[in-house]
Amino acid sequence: MSCFERLNLSIPIIQGGMGIGVSLSSLAGSVAAQGAMGVISTANPGYDRPDFWKNPAACNMEALRHHIKRAKELAKGQGVVAINAMVATTRYTETVAAAIQAGVDAIISGAGLPLHLPSVEGAEHVALAPIVSGAKAISTICKLWDKRFNRVPDFVVVEGSQAGGHLGFSKEEVLEGKAKPLHMLVEEVCQALVPWQEKYHQAIPVFAAGGVLDGADIAKMEQHGAYGVQMATSFIATEECDASEGYKKAILAAKDEDVRIVQSPVGMPGRGLASPLLDKLAAAGRIAPSRCANCLVPCNPLNTPYCITHALIEAVKGNWEEGLFFCGGNVGKINQMTTVPALIRRLTEEWKQAKQHCI
Ligand SMILES: Cc1cc2nc3c(=O)[nH]c(=O)nc-3n(C[C@H](O)[C@H](O)[C@H](O)COP(=O)(O)O)c2cc1C
Repeated sequence: MSCFERLNLSIPIIQGGMGIGVSLSSLAGSVAAQGAMGVISTANPGYDRPDFWKNPAACNMEALRHHIKRAKELAKGQGVVAINAMVATTRYTETVAAAIQAGVDAIISGAGLPLHLPSVEGAEHVALAPIVSGAKAISTICKLWDKRFNRVPDFVVVEGSQAGGHLGFSKEEVLEGKAKPLHMLVEEVCQALVPWQEKYHQAIPVFAAGGVLDGADIAKMEQHGAYGVQMATSFIATEECDASEGYKKAILAAKDEDVRIVQSPVGMPGRGLASPLLDKLAAAGRIAPSRCANCLVPCNPLNTPYCITHALIEAVKGNWEEGLFFCGGNVGKINQMTTVPALIRRLTEEWKQAKQHCI
């Protein structure tokens, strides 16, 4: 039995990891309790500890262990509790190892290629899933994992250009609509996985992410080869989401025309809401950081355009003036608060209906 088959996933929906602090134990545990996959973001989960800026590494480790334990308790043995770890973060390896030790079921990893993920201590006991934006990336990962670790991914998340947060496409591709649509990316990644599934006699399920809103979208991705979907922005508008009311209100109020593509110190473009911070950045060119948590490998505080950790922490707290509010491209269509059970019920019912229409 593969690591994926051992997961207790009865609903093939992943709640995408959302940093900083947007998807912690409350959201991830509630999603898992419904039989789906709840994902805790490992991006500075200790941001709300009083001594965070003095000792970010210790605060983050303690918070990560706390949130995994709490999410598992909330899940009551149902579903899957996973973490999302960004390759571009400074304490990537020790964070993943700590999460495995704390009992997480799966590791989802993007913002760079997770080429060494299988070598992390304990990785053989959990399901491993890269996030990719196309066939080239998944082929590179499979080739290397096969050669060095005799292993292939247990499942894969394919993220298209409509996703929230950091994007695996250039700013031009996103702004000029040149990126391939999600269903095409799903098809090409499924195709690239065929030889590896054959070699390892193992299915490698693909989850489609970025702009998925309803059951009809899920059915469409399934028709193109996806096993399920990963959704994030829709989960912000739930009672259980760990973000402040201010963040949730900003998501509910957002219109299509409020969406912006911003350059991130991670070295990739990101998608967020137009906000005073982006206006200030456009006017000043740079907002020099006043302190540094040393969180990203590619970030140099001496020349970074702004501190993304400060901006995301202010957003999760609901500070409209200073926050960077990450969101998906379809945020304008999300305008009602709901709960995690109601959202998952709606999605699965719509999906069933859409499938009946397809037959
Ligand atoms: C607020 C927010 C924060 C996010 N943070 C992360 C992150 O830390 N790591 C990551 O891999 N993806 C991150 N994402 C991407 C999501 O996990 C997800 O794949 C994507 O947003 C799906 O598209 P959707 O929001 O349209 O459903 C973030 C998305 C949002 C909206």
